[in-house]
Amino acid sequence: MSRSLIQQFLSHVLRPVLVRLLRWTERKGPLPSPRTSVFLHREIHVPTPVVGVAVWVLLSAVLFMELGPGIGPLTAVLILTTGLVVLFRLYLHHDHPELMHDDDAIALIGVLVVSAALGMDLWFHQINLSPFGFPLAAASILVTVLLHARMGVVLTLVLSLLFGILNGFSLDNALVACFSGMAGVSLSLRVRTRRDLTVACLGSAGGGAAAVLMLALLKQWPPAHVVGTLKWVLAAGGFSVVAVVALLPLLELCFSRLSTIRLLELSDVNHPLLKAMSLDAPGTYHHSLIAASLAQAAAERVGANALLCRVGAYFHDIGKLAKPEYFVENQGAIGNPHELLPPNMSRIVIQSHVKDGLALAQKHNLDRAIADFILMHHGTSRVEYFYRRAIEQTDVTQEVDEDLYRYPGPKPHSKETAIVMLADSVEASARTLENPSPQRLVDHVDRIVDSKIADGQFESVPLTLAEVAAVKDAFVNSLIGIYHTRLHYPTSQETNLEKRPARPT
Ligand SMILES: [Fe+2]
Ligand SMILES: [Fe+2]
Repeated sequence: MSRSLIQQFLSHVLRPVLVRLLRWTERKGPLPSPRTSVFLHREIHVPTPVVGVAVWVLLSAVLFMELGPGIGPLTAVLILTTGLVVLFRLYLHHDHPELMHDDDAIALIGVLVVSAALGMDLWFHQINLSPFGFPLAAASILVTVLLHARMGVVLTLVLSLLFGILNGFSLDNALVACFSGMAGVSLSLRVRTRRDLTVACLGSAGGGAAAVLMLALLKQWPPAHVVGTLKWVLAAGGFSVVAVVALLPLLELCFSRLSTIRLLELSDVNHPLLKAMSLDAPGTYHHSLIAASLAQAAAERVGANALLCRVGAYFHDIGKLAKPEYFVENQGAIGNPHELLPPNMSRIVIQSHVKDGLALAQKHNLDRAIADFILMHHGTSRVEYFYRRAIEQTDVTQEVDEDLYRYPGPKPHSKETAIVMLADSVEASARTLENPSPQRLVDHVDRIVDSKIADGQFESVPLTLAEVAAVKDAFVNSLIGIYHTRLHYPTSQETNLEKRPARPT
């Protein structure tokens, strides 16, 4: 084949195919993703059906290499893997419908299952390594920390089954893997630090050791075999620590997940963006802190991710750092620069804080889930003040284009982004209330929340009416604590000490 023929093939066949594949797999969205790239400076988006087929093929290949050759084993393997994929899909449909359309979550599970199966296959072919030393619990712990504990339990059951099958259909091995994984899942439920992760991994070794002791007593294993097995089970705990600590940040980055550990890191007010905000836009910084407190309280009431809400609220207005003086909370004595601008210019400056926030999020490598709060905290609402000013200043024969005065969106897509949108509006407008009595605060919160719902901002948010009522209630309780007029204490001038009645003796 001549060189030019190869070049023609590369430029006319392979390149267009690759470009189409990349376009197809690229995440669609109204604005570019803030996450740094993992592949060719693009965020890769693999649709769920593709992940399902890939996992089915790779899992079948691993099992067939172990159980084949022949048509019989191949058919058996295909029945097993098809059954596993179908059952997993049914489980997702019933228990985690929100993950059905979360391609990143499905891809994460697929990568972990296939990596664990391949890793087990390679490990079991090493004669110097005992199967009990394989750090299978690491996968269960990672899924629990990054997705959900129930997902961790299901993954543990599936991987334990594969662990037993790949070990010559050994029920003993499957039981040890299952005990170890379940212990890891239960100890990862409230992981907040890397130390907690280490404890979960070592605890998984404890679970495995308990299973070994149980089997040793039931099957009367010789002491030397028990000690040898226990050594490998404990070693698996150590290997799990290394695997989990090394893989967690990578998986968070590649699959748009935020563990509690990462959220706690981001909630540190010494983050460069928060520090810059406290110095250059102190009003916005204070507003963000109070909005965060409101959002956290509301999220706790409806079972949403309260820590995610708090961190999202901290960063939601970082775009105001570009022109802090154009936002009322930072103006103080310097005056209002909008007085010199027509409403159409003012609305451009105000709207740009979303775009500027996204650029800052990209620059500082903030996670996509946090950037969502920057993009969605105004949804497609109107820049009300300047819209009204534009109507006042426009000739009655002309019309003001309402769409120009709306933020670009997108609208909130989760309970957390919706709660931060409400906390932001409620906090910003509550500052303007005079004599905020409890009843005034109740009316104020009702008005703000109802107006957002009436404006269609929550079309894609899975909040029930009961949850909206709970969110309102949480806001009112927090606002009463923050804004309610304090009891009036008399000053010394108001109190005439001489006229006090004598204290009875
Ligand atoms: Fe904002
Ligand atoms: Fe805000």
